[in-house]
Amino acid sequence: MSFPTRYTVADLVREMGTYPPESAGATAIGSAGDGSVVYTDQLSTRANDHNVLMVAPAGHGKTNTLRGIAAQDLARGGSVLVVDSRVSGASFRKVADLPNLMHGHRITAIHRLLTCLADEMAARAAALEAGVPAYMPLTVAVEGLDILKELLSRHWMRLMPSGGPVVSPALDALRLALFEGGPLDVRVIATTQRPPSASWRDQFGVRVLGRQTRLGWDLLGCGEPLQPAMARIPGRMHVVFGHDYAIETQVPLWTDTAVREWASRAVENQPFPYLASTTWGDQ
Ligand SMILES: Nc1ncnc2c1ncn2[C@@H]1O[C@H](COP(=O)(O)OP(=O)(O)OP(=O)(O)O)[C@@H](O)[C@H]1O
Ligand SMILES: [Mg+2]
Repeated sequence: MSFPTRYTVADLVREMGTYPPESAGATAIGSAGDGSVVYTDQLSTRANDHNVLMVAPAGHGKTNTLRGIAAQDLARGGSVLVVDSRVSGASFRKVADLPNLMHGHRITAIHRLLTCLADEMAARAAALEAGVPAYMPLTVAVEGLDILKELLSRHWMRLMPSGGPVVSPALDALRLALFEGGPLDVRVIATTQRPPSASWRDQFGVRVLGRQTRLGWDLLGCGEPLQPAMARIPGRMHVVFGHDYAIETQVPLWTDTAVREWASRAVENQPFPYLASTTWGDQ
């Protein structure tokens, strides 16, 4: 294996050979170092393969990887709902004007967005039942999954009407997207520094891991007892497929220009089929 010292989205496109990718559902993560591209659907045998979790220490390239996946989902004509409660909340700020990208930053806006997501999924489920299965893909891109879960719970404690549900409906919507989004064309891509609890992490068929402790690898790796050597190079990740297989991968640097260019190749930009997009967003 030999990884280039500087790997760009232009290099990724060159390695892919065709552009846009011929396999419409596949997401390119990066280079395997031998001139081939690592896609998320390499071993697509499980139902939750579409959910992708990025786990790495600070500054290792989680957000960058998230941006790359989101750009490709937009290019497929999908919509991306970014949920970023962190103080900076800046991952997508410079590309926030892209069509079909929605952004929630303050916890009140995030709560409302996820409540709308619940309505969207209910409408999709009803349509599916009525035999209308064609949706535009919807990606929920979560920055800081571990912190968000805590914030949503705390926010709901303040809002909760007496006699209302104990669990935050927004958190419930996120859970539903993660656990049952597949048939509704809804997927979750998320970053976190800490591995989520067992039931949540099992829903991420693909994990993109930067430097992990032994414990982190045991929880998130592919069941191989030996933890691979993990480089300190930004974007050098191990992409793990279920419990079967891991491959070292260099993720390209997704500059604002690269995200914008890739996302703008959307075949057709369609708003949400069931909900007016004006009900979404920070306002
Ligand atoms: N694939 C890459 N190739 C080259 N440089 C990269 C790559 N990924 C990230 N970087 C560099 O590292 C910086 C940090 O990356 P990023 O913001 O994605 O890290 P992070 O894991 O999300 O960190 P945090 O935990 O602080 O949010 C980027 O601003 C960029 O300069
Ligand atoms: Mg980040």
